[in-house]
Amino acid sequence: MGKRNAIILAAGKGTRMRSKLYKVLHQVCGKTMVDHVLTQLEKAKIDTIITVVGFGAETVKDALGHRTRYALQKQQLGTGHAVMQTEDLLGNEDGETIVVSGDTPLFTADTFEKLFAYHEQRHAAVTILTSVAPDPTDYGRIIRNDVGIVERIVEEKDATVQEKAIKEVNTGVYCFDNKKLFAALKKINNDNHQGEYYLTDVIGILKQEGEIVTAYKMADFDESMGVNDRIALAKANRVMRERINKHWMQEGVSMIDPATTYIDADVKLGKDTVLEGDVVLKGHTTIGDDCYISAGSRIVDSTIHDGVKVTSSTLEEAEMHNGSDIGPNSHLRPEAEIGENVHIGNFCEVKKAYIGAGTKVGHLTYIGNATLGKNINVGCGVVFVNYDGTNKHHTNVGDHAFIGSNSNLVAPVNIAKDSFIAAGSTITDSTAQYDMAIARARQTNKKDYAKKLPW
Ligand code: UD1
Ligand code: CA
Repeated sequence: MGKRNAIILAAGKGTRMRSKLYKVLHQVCGKTMVDHVLTQLEKAKIDTIITVVGFGAETVKDALGHRTRYALQKQQLGTGHAVMQTEDLLGNEDGETIVVSGDTPLFTADTFEKLFAYHEQRHAAVTILTSVAPDPTDYGRIIRNDVGIVERIVEEKDATVQEKAIKEVNTGVYCFDNKKLFAALKKINNDNHQGEYYLTDVIGILKQEGEIVTAYKMADFDESMGVNDRIALAKANRVMRERINKHWMQEGVSMIDPATTYIDADVKLGKDTVLEGDVVLKGHTTIGDDCYISAGSRIVDSTIHDGVKVTSSTLEEAEMHNGSDIGPNSHLRPEAEIGENVHIGNFCEVKKAYIGAGTKVGHLTYIGNATLGKNINVGCGVVFVNYDGTNKHHTNVGDHAFIGSNSNLVAPVNIAKDSFIAAGSTITDSTAQYDMAIARARQTNKKDYAKKLPW
């Protein structure tokens, strides 16, 4: 067995997407399409992976980094021309080369492995990965002879009416004998409807030269689907979502309504966690065991430990420790860290703050740029006044402090442990342990004055 190489074609603009963003950078379940392809190739134990970039080359390179080598296709003259750009890097190698498009995000490593195995067993010059499309429009069709042997691929735009009726399609994935691929590429031309150098023409050339040309027909069309427009992008998201949700249910996560549960590809979930419908889990979010995430929650790039309850709330780059809960309708912003068994109730916002174990923040409160200790009670409507119009300042609150309702803590300020802030206070001076701070105008009651008022 020779070396295994892979080429990802990702130089096209993707005109049919009608987008400012290059096609292969559109996301499926939170990950770019080309990253999905690369991730699966990485799993398939391949020696060298080369990505052909062109439109948006720098952006695509930034997205994939050093996980792949790159070849530049300056002008997009077709898929065959794209593969030719890798000749300097690959042309002299023995072994097999798999070619995959960057716009087919659903392929799995398992399918790539099966394709390699099928190809190697038959000592073929090329094995085309094919599938049967319910609607083959826009795909290249597989032309077989009377006894079912593959002869060539014909593109939709070059196909006759009879050829268009064929439902077996080219998935855009092939396994080639590497040297034979580069030899045949020298013989293709752009004499076709689109005026492009088609990679698919290599198949007919190898066949005419008497080489072994085979096709491995995969069972699942959905896995092979190519994304050329937004309609296909939405479908790919649905198929990927179903795959991700099925995986997590098999791993012990309950979903009340998987059809409306949106989990990105890199999210991780623990056992006996329950997700209601209309839940969105994005980016590099991790959720532990025994959590309950209710409808209307959106959690982005956050870490949630075990036994946490999130009710209709939004979390971004935040962390919640064991047994804590939040919501309904609260918001954790970047660098909010919520300790064990902390209760955050409704209409609260926490940003860049640590809240120690057992602290309660029940209602209508803003906490920003702060460190709170353990077992503190934060009343209703408390504001951590952290911004003076130019700079942000920090507030510390010690263990077992009591912050009365409707108080403002004007930073920088230190509220000592066991100190007590009376309701309605605007606190600008730090307190000592066991102080009670009260900072509000005294009330006066004016006898019978209400009778003089116009109401
Ligand atoms: C291609 C195949 C078609 C197959 C389908 C499967 C050809 C000629 N046609 O058609 O048989 O059924 O994929 O999804 O190969 N690209 C470049 N440089 C170029 C042109 C394209 O890198 O000059 C890249 C694109 O970025 C894309 C991939 O190659 O990732 C496929 O190109 P695309 O234009 O989408 O081909 P299809 O029309 O889908
Ligand atoms: Ca395509």
